[in-house]
Amino acid sequence: MDYAIDNVSPDMSFLEMLDVLNTQLIEKGDEPVAFDHDCREGICGACSLFINGEAHGPGRQITTCQLHMRSFNDGDTIYIEPFRATAFPVVKDLIVDRGAFDRVQHAGGYVSVNTSGNTQDANAIPIDKSDADKAFDAATCIGCGACVATCKNSSAMLFVSAKISQFALLPQGQVEAKSRALNMVEQMDKEGFGNCTNTGACEVECPKGISLENIARMNREYLSASFTADK
Ligand code: SF4
Ligand code: FES
Repeated sequence: MDYAIDNVSPDMSFLEMLDVLNTQLIEKGDEPVAFDHDCREGICGACSLFINGEAHGPGRQITTCQLHMRSFNDGDTIYIEPFRATAFPVVKDLIVDRGAFDRVQHAGGYVSVNTSGNTQDANAIPIDKSDADKAFDAATCIGCGACVATCKNSSAMLFVSAKISQFALLPQGQVEAKSRALNMVEQMDKEGFGNCTNTGACEVECPKGISLENIARMNREYLSASFTADK
């Protein structure tokens, strides 16, 4: 479907431009275009558009909601698609169902904590600074799905490896270390995501700069868990 939009300011975000479009459509009595959004500040991972052939559009390390119309020229035709992957079925227009990510998380993206009253204060556990930094970097993954949409195999390995790494690097994550990678990878495969063939496009398009290093760590965790598993 083609739409012509007037009155787009260069300072509008991409989603504000879509708001203008939808206002125009509603005023004409037409159906607005459905798209996903929530925080509009790069935190929630809800916005999920493929813009001119790139997840989250042109620009690096930003989400669709952080993209501004000054990145385009007046008169440009902009092509907008939903994130495409078998594991992300389209719900309507530009909205896809990323429930597969939730199910992968449920399979192992958690830690068990002793709440008997003798719980050790997390801040009292010494952690190597470089490990803490790497765990924090992995934890910045917002689950947007751009890595999947960008990958020619629709692989979710960057996402899953970030969710595994944020625990694998910390002492608190060791309780489930023997099962986490196995269970999350098993669920990832069950959801229909493809395999990683080391193209690296996911890292380039990831709005949070999640490193491929996490995939290597996930593979090590998986291998080690497959030898020692007690699931
Ligand atoms: S790894 Fe990056 S692209 Fe993939 S879900 Fe996380 S934040 Fe989004
Ligand atoms: S709407 Fe929350 S990250 Fe874009």
